[in-house]
Amino acid sequence: MHFGGATFSVNEGEFVVILGPSGAGKSTILNLLGGMDKPSSGEIIVGGEDISKYTDNQLTNYRAENIGFIFQFYNILPTLTVLENVQIVNDIVKKPKDAREVLKEVGLLKHESKFPNQLSGGEQQRVSIARAIAKDPILLLCDEPTGALDSKTGVEVLKLLKKQCDANEGANTVIIVTHNSLIAEIADRVIRVKNGKVESNEINKSPKKIEEVEW
Ligand SMILES: Nc1ncnc2c1ncn2[C@@H]1O[C@H](COP(=O)(O)OP(=O)(O)O)[C@@H](O)[C@H]1O
Ligand SMILES: [Mg+2]
Repeated sequence: MHFGGATFSVNEGEFVVILGPSGAGKSTILNLLGGMDKPSSGEIIVGGEDISKYTDNQLTNYRAENIGFIFQFYNILPTLTVLENVQIVNDIVKKPKDAREVLKEVGLLKHESKFPNQLSGGEQQRVSIARAIAKDPILLLCDEPTGALDSKTGVEVLKLLKKQCDANEGANTVIIVTHNSLIAEIADRVIRVKNGKVESNEINKSPKKIEEVEW
């Protein structure tokens, strides 16, 4: 993808960390990749197609079928139960995973009837992960997914993101945007950004296991 000074590419199946300080353009990159924003110039090639040329309808389909999004502050709906927050996906994608099945995967089945304000921050983030994973997206985009969590809870969240990356025989791509350089230690690829530009894009030859990092 390239827009302005931000040119980079990643391979299918990678666990990617985009690292940079606040204001570097990380969220902008993620929103462009997710089809939530359009670049003023440049192109964004995903799976061989330039999504920057898509019509609004095409972008809606692209987001619905291919993209999972995880935000720093969860963005789950306060008036829906945990289960209902995940079942929303049934209205969006053709072949959603079973919502209860996914809640079991993230360890939240016992809370399925609770509302978000009855859960901890880490639990709420796991609901948002369950919602994203229920779509079984080929591209999971995570904007500071551990930014509001303590390190122990953050580790649980990263484990779930890694698991999604390894699903589908490793074909899923996960991109995490963060200012926390520790997260880069577990990535297959690290892209450093600053002032709206990509400074480096490197394969991590020996990614650490999540447990090996001193959080
Ligand atoms: N490549 C770029 N070209 C032009 N403006 C950019 C670019 N990347 C980011 N910006 C602008 O820089 C500001 C900060 O970007 P943002 O994505 O919110 O940063 P971050 O998430 O890293 O804190 C925003 O106003 C955004 O529109
Ligand atoms: Mg941001």
